[in-house]
Amino acid sequence: MAKFLIQSGKPLSGEVEVSGAKNAVLPLMAAAILPGEKCKIRDVPDLLDVGVMKDILTSFGGTVEWIGDGKLEIDMENLTCKEASYELVSRMRASILVMGPLLAREGYAKVYMPGGCTIGARPIDLHIKGFEALGAKVAAEDNYIEAYVPEGGLVGDSVYLDSPSVGATENIMMAAVLANGTTYIENAAEEPEIVDLANFLNRMGARIKGAGTDTIKIEGVKELHGTAHTVIPDRIETATFMLAAAITRGEILIKNVVPDHVKPITAKLKECGVTVELADEGLYVNAMDKKLVATDIKTLPYPGFPTDIQSPFMSFLATVEGASTVIETVFENRFMHVAELNRMGANIKTEGSKALVSGGKTLESARVVATDLRAGAALVLAALSAKGTTELSEIYHIERGYERFIEKFRSIGANILRTED
Ligand code: EPU
Repeated sequence: MAKFLIQSGKPLSGEVEVSGAKNAVLPLMAAAILPGEKCKIRDVPDLLDVGVMKDILTSFGGTVEWIGDGKLEIDMENLTCKEASYELVSRMRASILVMGPLLAREGYAKVYMPGGCTIGARPIDLHIKGFEALGAKVAAEDNYIEAYVPEGGLVGDSVYLDSPSVGATENIMMAAVLANGTTYIENAAEEPEIVDLANFLNRMGARIKGAGTDTIKIEGVKELHGTAHTVIPDRIETATFMLAAAITRGEILIKNVVPDHVKPITAKLKECGVTVELADEGLYVNAMDKKLVATDIKTLPYPGFPTDIQSPFMSFLATVEGASTVIETVFENRFMHVAELNRMGANIKTEGSKALVSGGKTLESARVVATDLRAGAALVLAALSAKGTTELSEIYHIERGYERFIEKFRSIGANILRTED
C-alpha cells in the first residue's frame, strides 16, 4: 500500500501553480455528453477522479483522449450505453452527474449508487426532485436510480432546492438545457464551479442566466454544439497552499488563482495575523515571524467558508495560540481527521457538529490515516509542521483530488516521500 513519509522542519517557501479545479472539471466532462459533437477542455488536472469520469464516458461509447498537456478531447457522438455501472460509480460519487445530461439527450439513464460515504450520507433526493419537476419518471431502488423521460420530452418548471446542493444544481441545470420551456432553480448553489459549468453550457448554445446567484434561469434550446473551454483554477488547492504557508510559518506565492474564490480563507487567515496580498502573478501568503492568534470558523455553502477547507484549517488552528471553535454545517461526518490530529499531539474535542480546538500545540509525528481527500491534505499539513517523520497511509484519497501533489509540495521545500511497501 502506498504511503507518504513526511518530514517536518523548515518553513515552506517559493512559488507554486494551481491546477484546474477537480470539482469543476467533473461536471464539465459530464456536460460534454450533451451536444453529440466534440468538446475540448483545457487545464484538466490529471487526477484519479478524472480517470474515473473518462472511463464512464468511454463505457457509454464515447471517445475521451488527452491531446496534449492538460487538454482533453471528448467526443460523445456515438452513445451506445446509458447505464453507469456499479464498478465505476462506486469509485466516485460524482458519477451521478451523468444523469442530467443523459436524460436531456437520450431520455433515459440508469446509474448504480454506492452506499453512504465517509463524510456523510450524501443523499440524492434533491437531484431526483429536480428531474421529476421537469417531468422525468424516476425509480430510486436500493442500489440504482433509473429515470426516463415520457414522450414530448422534459418540460421546464420551477425547482426549489431545500438546501443549495452543488451536485443537484449542476444535474438539474444540465437536464434543463434541452427541455421545452424555461426552468428556474431556486435556492441554487452559488459555487464558482456552477458558474464555470453554466459558461461551458452557454458556449454550447444553452441559454442560462443567473449562475452564481441563488436563482438560475435556463431557457431550453433545441440543440447544442461542440465547444472548447478552460477550467477555472482549483480554489480548494489554492486554499491548501495558503494553509501550507500558514502552518509552516513560511511564505508562498500561489499562481493561477482567482482571489475572489478564496475570500473566506483570506479573511480568516488575516484575522489570525497571516499576511495575504494580491501580487502581480497571484496570491502572496506570508506567516513568517508573525504572532498568530486563534479564530473561529463555520462552514457554509459558497460564498461562506468551504467545508473542503475545514480540516486543513483545523490543522493550522491546532498550532496557533488560543482557543478556536470550528462548526461544520454542510456534512454530518467531517471530523474524522480530529482523532488523527489528536494522535499528533493536537488538543481537539468534538461535540456533534462542533469542534473545540485548544491551540498552541507543537505537533508530533505519528502513524496516521487519510480517511478522505481533505482529511488527507489536513494531515499532510499537520505533518509538515510536526517534529519527526509522519507516516500517512490511504494516500489514494489525496491522489484522487490533488494533481502532482508531492511534486508541487517538494518544489516549495517540503520533504515528502512516496513509498509503496
Ligand atoms: N444533499 C442532500 N440531498 C441531495 C444532495 C445533497 O441532502 O440530493 C446534502 C448533502 O448530504 C450535504 C449537502 O447537501 O449535506 C451538500 O452537498 P452537495 O450536494 O452540495 O455536495 P456535492 O455536490 O455532493 C460537492 C463537492 C464536494 C464539496 C461539496 C460542498 C464535487 C464533485 N464535490 O459535493 O467536494 O464538499 O460540493 O461544497 O463537486 C471534495 O472535493 O473533497 C468534496 C467532497
